[in-house]
Amino acid sequence: MYDNQKFEEEIAAVDLNAPAPQDEHTRELYYIAKLKNIISKRSAEAGRPLTACTVTFGCQMNARDSEKLSGTLSRAGFVLTDSENADFVIFNTCTVRDNADQRTFGHLGRISHLKKQNPRMKVAVCGCMMQEQGNVDRIHKSVDLIFGTHNIYRFAEYLFEVYDTDEKITQIWNRSDQIVESQPTERKYPYKSGINIMFGCDNYCSYCIVPYVRGRERSREPVDILREVEMLAADGVKEVMLLGQNVNSYGRGLADPISFAALLREVAQVDGIGRVRFMTPHPKDLSDELIEVVRDTPNIARHIHLPLQSGSDRILKKMNRHYTKEQYIALAQKIRDSIEDVSITTDIIVGFPGETEEDVNDTIDVIERVGFDNAYTFIYSPRRGTPAARMEDQVPEEKVHEGFDRVLATVQHSAKERSMRLQGRVMEALIEEPNAQKEGYLTARLSNNMIVHVPGDISLIGTFRPVLLKECRGFYYFGELQ
Ligand code: 5AD
Ligand code: SF4
Repeated sequence: MYDNQKFEEEIAAVDLNAPAPQDEHTRELYYIAKLKNIISKRSAEAGRPLTACTVTFGCQMNARDSEKLSGTLSRAGFVLTDSENADFVIFNTCTVRDNADQRTFGHLGRISHLKKQNPRMKVAVCGCMMQEQGNVDRIHKSVDLIFGTHNIYRFAEYLFEVYDTDEKITQIWNRSDQIVESQPTERKYPYKSGINIMFGCDNYCSYCIVPYVRGRERSREPVDILREVEMLAADGVKEVMLLGQNVNSYGRGLADPISFAALLREVAQVDGIGRVRFMTPHPKDLSDELIEVVRDTPNIARHIHLPLQSGSDRILKKMNRHYTKEQYIALAQKIRDSIEDVSITTDIIVGFPGETEEDVNDTIDVIERVGFDNAYTFIYSPRRGTPAARMEDQVPEEKVHEGFDRVLATVQHSAKERSMRLQGRVMEALIEEPNAQKEGYLTARLSNNMIVHVPGDISLIGTFRPVLLKECRGFYYFGELQ
């Protein structure tokens, strides 16, 4: 996996005159070593180390992929920076909704000005948005390197070629045949990390572009996942989040099938792991076994993110979600009855084709009956190639806004009610970072995923502390270390 120390040694041992190895891991080391030579020369020419910036859009899986991109850049000799005014900038894109695409185009527009001022600058774009031909056609003239989601593990090789030839490279694959997870990483947080346990999605919800850009569902071997968790724990990680588009179907295609619940139980037993989270279970197939494992394992977070999308049976059917309103409510009730202090959060889409006021009322009814602890509410965005984009009854924009505002107000009310119930309780929190707005305060996260701000010293970051929840501010708290 990515023992960075071991990586350095292996890179130093690479024979640069040998042909490129076929095995993906050795191949990657080979290209990082070759790249390192070039970057070192280019840095000498510049009279300073070359800088690199990784910009991430979208979900936790993209965030994790970006840690790998940064890991490769750092091993190759770039100095990492948060500023897009760097010698190398890579955008890891998302295309789940149109506004994600627009944000990337906005950044690319701004970067073209910086590129004119810095002749050394090279720009790369990768990720979900690049799996769509139209997007590649639109940007390929102005960027140096383009690749997609299936070949991210070849990043070092492509980057080497870009620097070796000073030519533009576009490499998009349509599918992945293997899972390569050996890249070096630069973690954003020393004390917590995401871990991809599976890739792709086979659910084909009718609005969603993910199955088309991330491909068929594939699970990693449990031994590889456990080894990665052990290495992370040895490197100081206290909290891991297991990531997959639908974690419930984890393990199905493996030679030795294993349930997600069984994997979760094993991960939670790894020494040094104080807390385990996971995202995302689909309501259609969340098992009783999973609920029991969460209930019986104290270091699994008391938080289930359970995307509802809509509360209307008619719309759920058109969305291809495979559950009804009442089934969803019954599942949420079962989770609440089984797991003490659990929070349930959700994703909701407003404005799906054919959605009426009645349908929105159904969604609002579910929010009220389940009492979500929080929810992400999205306006439906038609995605090219998905069945929903071809439906004839697209809802006019002004109608969507009215429904969206009603849903949002209900969500906010529910989130506030749920958080207020915890007033005065002392709960364990992972201290995450200094509070950006309030000097002398730290931001911490409870097992149920709620945020609490406490006065305290930055030396506490990365530790679990009991915190008194004093003052509820909607969906977060001000508190005090105990
Ligand atoms: N329009 C709006 N929201 C979408 N999501 C996925 N696809 C779309 C779309 N086309 C939302 C879903 C999903 C979350 C990650 O993004 O709510 O759960
Ligand atoms: Fe998209 Fe549905 Fe798969 Fe989630 S489960 S990624 S919403 S197709």
